[in-house]
Amino acid sequence: MIITIDGPAGSGKSTVARRLAQRLGFRFLNTGAMYRAIALKCVRDATDLDDFDAVVACARMASVTFEGDRPHLDGEDVSDALRTEPVSAAASRVAVNPQVRDLLVSLQRAAAEGHEVVTEGRDQGTIVFPDAAVKIFLTASAETRAARRYAELAAIEGHPPDDVTYAGVLAQIRDRDERDGNRPIAPLKPAPDAIAFDTSEITVDEAVDLLERFVRERI
Ligand code: DC
Repeated sequence: MIITIDGPAGSGKSTVARRLAQRLGFRFLNTGAMYRAIALKCVRDATDLDDFDAVVACARMASVTFEGDRPHLDGEDVSDALRTEPVSAAASRVAVNPQVRDLLVSLQRAAAEGHEVVTEGRDQGTIVFPDAAVKIFLTASAETRAARRYAELAAIEGHPPDDVTYAGVLAQIRDRDERDGNRPIAPLKPAPDAIAFDTSEITVDEAVDLLERFVRERI
């Protein structure tokens, strides 16, 4: 059985999906981390992100795996490296590449084959798993999402980042929403049969409780 959770950056979907998977005893598939890992490889290799073929070549050479929930690139644990702003920005550029998407969609379907999975991303309910048993679309206001992201960056560094402001994070979130929502292939939008939840006014714990109740009623 597949449960999809799609939504924009900062809607809480990764945390909520991970914890929901734990509660249900399902596998967790973090597809955002896959796009981020390819982006990290491209950044490290100084690949021109506007050169579609070079980005595809970079993606083909990357080995993206998970040990438990921790994403690995070519065998290295890159959990923290994937959360930085340059990688976030590069990931949303890599994600517009149709061949990279095809490659990762195949990996995602293979990872889910024969398993009970909670998967999170942008296109999980629309493109990758159109027959999923339960489809959820998580949203939150851009301001709430920026505040969460800013707090997350501060947590990584142990203090508010010197070179990043809340206003800067908000501008980047809006930018990324625009790019993810308007790209021609697999734009971020709810599947027609997805149920939307807004997490602006609730905590992560409340969101997990809410979705667990919702999913258990459905399955
Ligand atoms: O969810 P995230 O912020 O970790 O995703 C990183 C980038 O990858 C983001 O710009 C959207 C893109 N992405 C995508 O296009 N499709 C997915 N299934 C997951 C992420």
